[in-house]
Amino acid sequence: MVLDGQAVGCSAFVHNVDYNEQPRPGCLYIVSTGVAPEFQRKGFGNQQKAWQIEYAKQRGFTKIVTNMRQSNERIIRLNEKFGFTIRKIDPGYYSDGEPCVVMELDLSNSYTCPQCGKPLRTSRAKQCRFCHADWH
Ligand SMILES: CC(C)(COP(=O)(O)OP(=O)(O)OC[C@H]1O[C@@H](n2cnc3c(N)ncnc32)[C@H](O)[C@@H]1OP(=O)(O)O)[C@@H](O)C(=O)NCCC(=O)NCCS
Ligand SMILES: [Zn+2]
Repeated sequence: MVLDGQAVGCSAFVHNVDYNEQPRPGCLYIVSTGVAPEFQRKGFGNQQKAWQIEYAKQRGFTKIVTNMRQSNERIIRLNEKFGFTIRKIDPGYYSDGEPCVVMELDLSNSYTCPQCGKPLRTSRAKQCRFCHADWH
């Protein structure tokens, strides 16, 4: 993610694997999501997450999986805001013994705001609860 020629954030993906890197057709694995410390809490995490979901949709993925340390509340909250849910806790993932949280977003029947790309509650929603765009 580049702003005025400066790198402010970075995403890493692996195509068609699960979080443990086992083959999983149709699944995009987000290995990492990062915003440089001096640019955090300015909305770039949100922008990057919306872009990641768009990246997956445009390439026809039906699922997104990602994982993080159980203590990383910020990225868990950010993913939840975009509709990711917790699939499981993997206690043996990190060598230091901290469990990882595995989160997924199902894209096969998702409805997103045409304005900001965030999830709508239903296909019939008339207004976005995030950016308040409406389309009556
Ligand atoms: C997680 C991370 C990507 C968020 O990026 P960011 O640019 O700071 O995020 P934003 O400013 O867009 O905020 C996104 C959301 O994160 C959450 N958040 C941000 N700061 C927070 C804080 N201090 N405490 C709790 N939640 C917070 C909020 O839900 C926020 O949404 P809001 O718009 O409702 O406030 C960033 O903190 C980061 O790069 N962390 C280090 C790398 C990392 O841990 N990556 C994840 C594992 S790979
Ligand atoms: Zn919106």
